[in-house]
Amino acid sequence: MYKLLHNFQLKKFNTFAIPATAKFYLSIESLSDLTDALINNPQLINEQRLVLGSGSNLLFLKDYDGIIIHPQIQGIQRLKENDFTVEVEVGAGVKWDNFVEWSVVNELYGIENLSLIPGNTGAVPVQNIGAYGVEASSVVEWVTGIDLITMNQRIIHRFDCEFGYRISLFKEKLKENFIVTSVNFRLSKKPGYNLQYEGLESKVREFGEVNLVNVRQAIIKIRTSKLPDPSVYGNAGSFFKNPVVSDDAADTLKRLYPDIPVYSLGSGFSKLAAGWMIEKAGWKGHSFGNAAIHDKQALVIINKGNATGKEIFSLSEMVAENILQKFNIRLEREVQVVG
Ligand code: EPU
Repeated sequence: MYKLLHNFQLKKFNTFAIPATAKFYLSIESLSDLTDALINNPQLINEQRLVLGSGSNLLFLKDYDGIIIHPQIQGIQRLKENDFTVEVEVGAGVKWDNFVEWSVVNELYGIENLSLIPGNTGAVPVQNIGAYGVEASSVVEWVTGIDLITMNQRIIHRFDCEFGYRISLFKEKLKENFIVTSVNFRLSKKPGYNLQYEGLESKVREFGEVNLVNVRQAIIKIRTSKLPDPSVYGNAGSFFKNPVVSDDAADTLKRLYPDIPVYSLGSGFSKLAAGWMIEKAGWKGHSFGNAAIHDKQALVIINKGNATGKEIFSLSEMVAENILQKFNIRLEREVQVVG
């Protein structure tokens, strides 16, 4: 069944908790829901559109003059398996962390480091979510969705997903023209932990032996100590990406700032910690109106109460401008700005 609403309030549908309305809101549970909605409401076809997961990566600057499509497909299904791996199909509307919890309960390895990331599973391949040394691209097998040009179902294999750091085919070339309906993951039945992230292994040991439950607990502990709970302070996780620069540029900065964290990516490139630069530039805890730089993780911008999208955006622009002046580094937003 589809649900079509007019002038829909999005405040509860974006984790920044920004009040903005959508001209149309369409919630669907299947491909046929979408085709039925469009056949019954042909005026929707020419509207600009935005696919909404759980709104954990969106910043609305104004009301949305178009249609917001919200896939609500549920279900976690074990498909093929052998002695080593299991293929699991997960509906786009499944809350990501519910699936991570399911994997831990079912003793399947591969996504425990991605515990507690807000959002729905449909957004996972779009954003190629990542944390604590693991990226979604390492476990996604294929993505099923609706091609909005042909209105046919389409399956896109991992090799064609063009995954990169917080980027994919879905975020770039297929933007606005594809709705993820389910994601197929390959999880491992055999233990294989990724404890490279600084301090993770010792945090796991605080809970006891290294096992799936304890890794998940440690990740949750680390996340909650640094990242604000969106139900308390609206936020969208990291506002900016960590910039990727040439090794030469990184070396130059390292000479000026010996304690700057630099992660070598090989092939002549390095990643810099944007949060470190923002803190170093003195922005941690700094407010602009009702928006603020989080006082425990400077890469995160929070809504202190009744912030508007424009306040959050203005603060981000001030920060980016200042980082450019101070470090000669251009920060790129991770959050998708709408409006
Ligand atoms: N740092 C500071 N001050 C800060 C923030 C960070 O000095 O205010 C330093 C830290 O001490 C550390 C380095 O910067 O040396 C990196 O910080 P951290 O490990 O907290 O991670 P991050 O690079 O800021 C990235 C992801 C997060 C992910 C963490 C852990 C991006 C844009 N962000 O943040 O993902 O949880 O690593 O893997 O890549 C997200 O995408 O929304 C997100 C939260």
